[in-house]
Amino acid sequence: MIILKSAREIKLMQEAGKILASCHKEIKKIIRPGISTQKIDSFVENYLSKWGATPEQKGYQGYPYATCASTNDEICHGFPHSTPLKDGDIVTIDMVVNLNGFLADSAWTYAVGTISDDSKHLLKVTEEALYRGIAQAQIGNRLGDIGHSIQSHVEAEGFSVVRDFTGHGIGKKMHEEPAVLHYGKPNKGIALKEGMVITIEPMVNVGSWHCKIDKNGWTARTIDGKRSAQYEHTLAITSNGPLILTDQENL
Ligand code: MF3
Ligand code: CO
Repeated sequence: MIILKSAREIKLMQEAGKILASCHKEIKKIIRPGISTQKIDSFVENYLSKWGATPEQKGYQGYPYATCASTNDEICHGFPHSTPLKDGDIVTIDMVVNLNGFLADSAWTYAVGTISDDSKHLLKVTEEALYRGIAQAQIGNRLGDIGHSIQSHVEAEGFSVVRDFTGHGIGKKMHEEPAVLHYGKPNKGIALKEGMVITIEPMVNVGSWHCKIDKNGWTARTIDGKRSAQYEHTLAITSNGPLILTDQENL
């Protein structure tokens, strides 16, 4: 069942989203060669608690950390660890913020120091794919329009879209219906309605879209060892078009 949200509920989710977005902007300032993802994870937990918010991922189905920190060939659900990030790495920091019981979810891939032109291209295309998907999140469009707009852009640039993980509805729970696929066909799937709140979070691989899961039972990485990036926003479907609740602009 898809839970439609009232204007009031969307506002409350946006409050959580603003804290999340400003936290990403702070991460951007501190990320550099030498810092560990463990440091970033504790920074996030402290930052959220300063604003009266909590990291929803911590303890979710036994997940042990406030953030997911996925470097280079890790696609998602990477564990923060103490090894310092190196110049040229890319790292995706993903978090779900709970403020007064309302959630927001956003992931961002960061360049550590100076990255290769190929990695720059990957980050650019993945971010563009997210915004192309968001542009399709309009009343009357269908989920397939979102997936298709993402897939066609990514594949035209020579990259691949991960199939094993999807966006999702979100509200007071992290994962609600519907599943939001990042691939698909125009005019297929359920119709988008006012009050739906979803995430769009394409994971884009340089090589094959296939993944394998680490022994920790969580971390997904590419089977060919090539890099993967991800950008994610939480957004509401409104009569004025998509409203990005985790927008890092206009904070
Ligand atoms: N925030 C991610 C998502 O889009 C991943 C959550 S998995 C967790 O669903 F267990 F770590 F919380
Ligand atoms: Co998500």
